[in-house]
Amino acid sequence: MDKLVSLAKRRGFVFQSSEIYGGLNGCWDYGPLGVELLNNVKDQWWKAMTFREDIEGIDASILMHPRVWEASGHVANFTDPMVDCRECKARFRADQIEDAPCGNPAYKGRKASKCQAEGKFTEARQFNLMFKTFIGPLEDEGSVVYLRPETAQGIYVNFLNVQSASRQKVPFGIAQIGKAFRNEINTKNFLFRTREFEQMEMQFFVKPGTDVGWFEYWKDQRMRWFVDLGMTKDKLQWHRHESEKLAHYAKDAFDIEYQFPFGWGEIEGIHNRTDYDLSRHEEYSGKSLKYFDEATKERFTPYIIETSAGASRAFMAFLVDAYREEEAPTADGKMEVRAVMKFNKKLAPVKAAVFPLVNRDGMPEIAKKIELALRPHFRVFYDDSGAVGRRYRRQDEIGTPFCFTVDSQTLGDQTVTVRERDTMQQERLGADRVVRYLKDQFDTI
Ligand code: GAP
Repeated sequence: MDKLVSLAKRRGFVFQSSEIYGGLNGCWDYGPLGVELLNNVKDQWWKAMTFREDIEGIDASILMHPRVWEASGHVANFTDPMVDCRECKARFRADQIEDAPCGNPAYKGRKASKCQAEGKFTEARQFNLMFKTFIGPLEDEGSVVYLRPETAQGIYVNFLNVQSASRQKVPFGIAQIGKAFRNEINTKNFLFRTREFEQMEMQFFVKPGTDVGWFEYWKDQRMRWFVDLGMTKDKLQWHRHESEKLAHYAKDAFDIEYQFPFGWGEIEGIHNRTDYDLSRHEEYSGKSLKYFDEATKERFTPYIIETSAGASRAFMAFLVDAYREEEAPTADGKMEVRAVMKFNKKLAPVKAAVFPLVNRDGMPEIAKKIELALRPHFRVFYDDSGAVGRRYRRQDEIGTPFCFTVDSQTLGDQTVTVRERDTMQQERLGADRVVRYLKDQFDTI
């Protein structure tokens, strides 16, 4: 994990937020390659969700009417038990003390549970995880609003707006990608638990009684999405929430977990939320959110099957999963260890690199021409510095699937080499076919 965090910084995937001021706990910035990878993850999710006839997209505002969070149960229930150490003032989630280190740097290696056993901790208090702010110029109780802790509520309150505007019939879904904020007591493990993150959520509205079947359908679809994007099957597992641990709204809930270097961690939740959300918003807003089924002339409150993925957690799982160190031959036939990100090519931040073998004999001009031809279609990288072997390694490390090299043969027959990242195999193709070649690699969504 340490290796990956340092590579992420060095190659421009992820930086600590406000690093020059010492950082801000639980907040991270995506660098030039990180933002490409994150966008590709979100793009694949968006296509999987909305390139189908029964799901519409939405982008709701982050700030919502404060009653939304009363109706949703977040004001009353979105809390974690928190304890403070009287000695070092460190703060812990009361249910996560077991794994936590002591907060005092002077006691290196000491466990927080030892301090607790010695009676240094306060009693547990409930702490609401929503960030509060004020809307308008007055900072009083009447102008409190919250940064949304999940994107889901923006979908529920727009259920009938979307349904009537799109003329969708139940069963149908609404998808959204957006920022969510949680004032987590303990942030940890790089991007895993942060205070600001992005969610990719889809709420599927179904007729009560059909919910169990749809729940199974969406479980299957969501696991398949990760596997189809190349995530190692053996590093994915289901975790079912025990009935006594289910969230207040849920009838059934499964997490998709990924085996990170620090252990199994949830990357997505699939929840059967029943009619809880729409009923609560009906109750608190006084507006009907019932659906009228024209075919059967029935009026009912739909059940909701939710698929809720963290974009940043998926990003981190794809990053961890792609990272390999393997033996590879050098130009002079020796073996060396290469670090390579084996991203699915749809996720790769840079799709191709273009090299002139040497900076003379007209090679840079031809390579530049190829680069310019590719640029309108793909994120590409031009590199003319250092030995070509080094250049391949630099691209391997960021997961670039294809490298095109202009060499002396190009000058005679106008062909270039294309080198594939995973096999390191090279073949030749006409320089004028490079754009077509790369387009063919990305033809399917
Ligand atoms: N609408 C349901 C909901 O928000 P959740 O299990 O609290 O459910 C869904 O969150 C997903 O959001 C999680 O599976 C995870 O991927 C992501 N997530 C939640 N809290 C997070 C945090 N503090 N940092 C990063 N991602 C988080």
